[in-house]
Amino acid sequence: MNVSELRLRLSHAGQEHLLQFWEELEEAQQGELYAELQAMNFEELNVFFRKATEGFNQSSRQEKVDARMEPIPREVLGSATRDQDQLQAWESEGLLHISQNRVAVLLLAGGQGTRLGVTYPKGMYDVGLPSHKTLFQLQAERILKLQQLAEKCHGNRCTIPWYIMTSGRTMQSTEEFFTKHRHFGLQKENVVFFQQGMLPAMSFDGKIILEEKSKVSMAPDGNGGLYRALAAWDIVGDMERRGISSVHVYCVDNILVRVADPRFIGFCIQQGADCGAKVVEKTNPTEPVGVVCRVDGVYQVVEYSEISLATAQRRGPDGRLLFNAGNIANHFFTVPFLRDIVNVHEPQLQHHVAQKKVPSVDSQGQLVKPDRPNGIKMEKFVFDIFQFAQKFVVYEVLREDEFSPLKNADSQNGKDNPTTARHALMSLHHCWVLNAGGHFIDENGCRLPAIPRLKDASDDPIQCEVSPLISYAGEGLESLVAHREFHAPLIIDEHGVHELVTNGL
Ligand code: UD1
Repeated sequence: MNVSELRLRLSHAGQEHLLQFWEELEEAQQGELYAELQAMNFEELNVFFRKATEGFNQSSRQEKVDARMEPIPREVLGSATRDQDQLQAWESEGLLHISQNRVAVLLLAGGQGTRLGVTYPKGMYDVGLPSHKTLFQLQAERILKLQQLAEKCHGNRCTIPWYIMTSGRTMQSTEEFFTKHRHFGLQKENVVFFQQGMLPAMSFDGKIILEEKSKVSMAPDGNGGLYRALAAWDIVGDMERRGISSVHVYCVDNILVRVADPRFIGFCIQQGADCGAKVVEKTNPTEPVGVVCRVDGVYQVVEYSEISLATAQRRGPDGRLLFNAGNIANHFFTVPFLRDIVNVHEPQLQHHVAQKKVPSVDSQGQLVKPDRPNGIKMEKFVFDIFQFAQKFVVYEVLREDEFSPLKNADSQNGKDNPTTARHALMSLHHCWVLNAGGHFIDENGCRLPAIPRLKDASDDPIQCEVSPLISYAGEGLESLVAHREFHAPLIIDEHGVHELVTNGL
């Protein structure tokens, strides 16, 4: 260990306080801290801090951004509800590309799940469905099913590679979980793990924060850390070698996510887009979703933490929110576009600033748990590359069909928690069974009204779960349920249709 050289580097960067407890540390702790600090580029961190805080101070002058925001124009918008006559064509196009092994999916799973309050990766969470499948398993089975559907449609055996971005916090446990579950039936070589970077938390005056005397407070560098990680792990190269041309990027926490959705992919391809975003209509101004819009004519997402309430509340002439393209963190990118980002644009992406209460040691070495923000976390956002697109499109879908994120614990509030996620999935599957001609009856044999959507998230829905191995998006259920009556709970999986009692009509 060359401690004097490290000390010199630190003092050049104004971070010499990081070694202030050095003499008190045990040898093993010294080794750990030395390794951690040696791996850091302090000059680069100082530049990140300066640019991020400049950007933050500018965007705090909120009215300026708000005044420059415009809603997305209709000509870049495809809609699963308003363009129903196009859906078949988009789906066929997407399935064709999938069948030609040209589509990959990329999961952003490096977050820490702080709001959900679990110590393990969110994808391993079981929301309490009858099957007790985790988010990872549901997504894996949707990939398996889609491969089959594409094969059936076009006669080619195909693969949808699954790239999974983890972080220092989630890598090991995620890989172990997949190994334990034999990659949920997917081929191991087609599930590619890679790891995003971490950044230290910094005080408001740019000093790196120690969370222990021998440990820097580190956090993942935001889901836009993706682009640096793509370069570091040569993931775009891997995609190119496999002949992939389109990638669906999505977040881990949406229980209804249509992984590699052929309609979305087909729509983007038919429009000749290099970049696309899937949205749902935002109906509540304070809902924590970003909005896709234009600022100074450039497409971007204005994050929920960065929009003012007054702007979020603005309504158009039809009474709907003016900025209603709610980002559900499902993005389409072509591989050449990603190549361009990685080679050219990544360094231009600025970190966003989140003010946080960061547990730290004070100058006496005492652990302090602050009750108000004492520092910042710097994060890049995945959607910050929209500005570089040659052709950007937006695809709007129904919330009930495709969006129910798991963000909070049940105890916290009534929104976006395990109960709402479980209910959303069962309500949707109830709908699928009704649409396929099935009926539900109560204990007296009377038909239950066919109103599957919930009025209130706390209402218990009819318990109905369809395995993704049987149906990707509601298709193919007629032969199993048409003209039949079921008691809930109803489970349809690879072992058949299980219900308490069924009667043929
Ligand atoms: C995200 C979107 C927001 C959208 C909302 C919908 C971003 C920056 N924001 O917000 O616009 O309306 O989802 O649910 O995309 N992640 C990483 N690495 C990190 C941090 C997060 O991979 O360093 C992953 C998480 O594992 C998760 C996803 O990114 O899969 C979203 O992270 P989260 O912090 O939950 O985003 P939101 O703030 O809810």
